[in-house]
Amino acid sequence: MLSAEDNVLLTRIDPGTPMGSLMRHYWIPALPSDRLPGPDCDPVRVRLMGESLVAFRDTEGRVGLLDERCPHRTASLYFGRNEESGIRCVYHGWKFDIHGDCLDIPSEPAGRGRADRIKAIAYPCIERGGLVWTYMGPPDKRPPFPDLEWTLVPDSHRFVTRRLQDCNWLQALEGGFDPTHLSFLHKGDLIPGVDFPLPVASEFLPTGAGFICAYAREMFGKTVWCGETFLMPFHKLIPTELPGAHVWAPVDDETTMLYSIDYNPDAPLTQAQREAHESGRLIHAANEAGSDRTIQNRGNDYMIDRAVQRSGRSYTGIPGVGVQDGAIQESMGRIADRTREHLRPSDAGIVRLRRYLLNAVAEFQEKGAVPALDPTAYRQRPIYAFAPLSVGLHALLPAHDAAVAGSAAWAVAESLA
Ligand SMILES: [Fe+2]
Repeated sequence: MLSAEDNVLLTRIDPGTPMGSLMRHYWIPALPSDRLPGPDCDPVRVRLMGESLVAFRDTEGRVGLLDERCPHRTASLYFGRNEESGIRCVYHGWKFDIHGDCLDIPSEPAGRGRADRIKAIAYPCIERGGLVWTYMGPPDKRPPFPDLEWTLVPDSHRFVTRRLQDCNWLQALEGGFDPTHLSFLHKGDLIPGVDFPLPVASEFLPTGAGFICAYAREMFGKTVWCGETFLMPFHKLIPTELPGAHVWAPVDDETTMLYSIDYNPDAPLTQAQREAHESGRLIHAANEAGSDRTIQNRGNDYMIDRAVQRSGRSYTGIPGVGVQDGAIQESMGRIADRTREHLRPSDAGIVRLRRYLLNAVAEFQEKGAVPALDPTAYRQRPIYAFAPLSVGLHALLPAHDAAVAGSAAWAVAESLA
């Protein structure tokens, strides 16, 4: 369990909150690049970190992300005219570029000089891995973009979806570091016909960007080591045969945008792999047309099928592993009350995660320290390998580390830096 104070400290991300201020020191995904398909396209509303913003792509193709409220009379820039390298508020024609600089005040032709002193709140953007990412922290503290392997492979090697979750970012993230739920919540659905066994051993490995909780399970007649990898502030690398990733970007305290990624570091995804991801059977989920809302959602009880649940073919009767996660995370309430929990030794991964984040917030509040800003600390790939328990995880690490070090992605990172 967590004290009520620590629960507030970890979960609240509005401007000025401790966690919100810390998280703003990292790059945060704002929207898929293809939602802004070309120069001077329609602007898009973005809700992120409790702030209402508007994204646009200017005449040169650069992405701008501005406070939705025009600094003149606070009208929404969403209705603005995106033209000639800036967005123009349709209320009085004031025009702003991607940096938030006011370029024109046509309502006062004689007052042009004053435009220099007016600035819209603007957050810098970068496009990586098919997404627009933004930095919302102090301008002088902006770090280089982290070397996340999935953002550095060619588009053909990657499959990305996103969807809204009606709950706080932390309880969704915690779901990614709960090793035992795989044997219950997802029973019957992770690998059809195979019961996902409980871990028989675990190891904790700190890294420069977070940590790895590695678990050994006896499966397929072998011992499989899977490293659940946490990277600051809200990334997970998913240990499967081909790697995956999740990013839980806070929309506000009670809503989260989950980005889910499957990728092959070395080759394009095959048609069969793309179709498997599109099916929504595993980490991805199908959305309502033109929406980030899943078709299976709270309003229809995630389409739970009690007959399937009773049959035992699926432990939940809810189709789709990713939807099962979302269903159960949302069922805890918009912000889970962690004072009511009863954690057990098998919840050690969640305790590690909270301890890491509480420590990071404390160091930030006391000293202004921000961990894991070195982009190369993110040069990781989740561990998924076989070694008998008697041999152990550490025997696997040299070969794993050598494979990661040999990734073509790092040369791409250096060319982009
Ligand atoms: Fe899960």
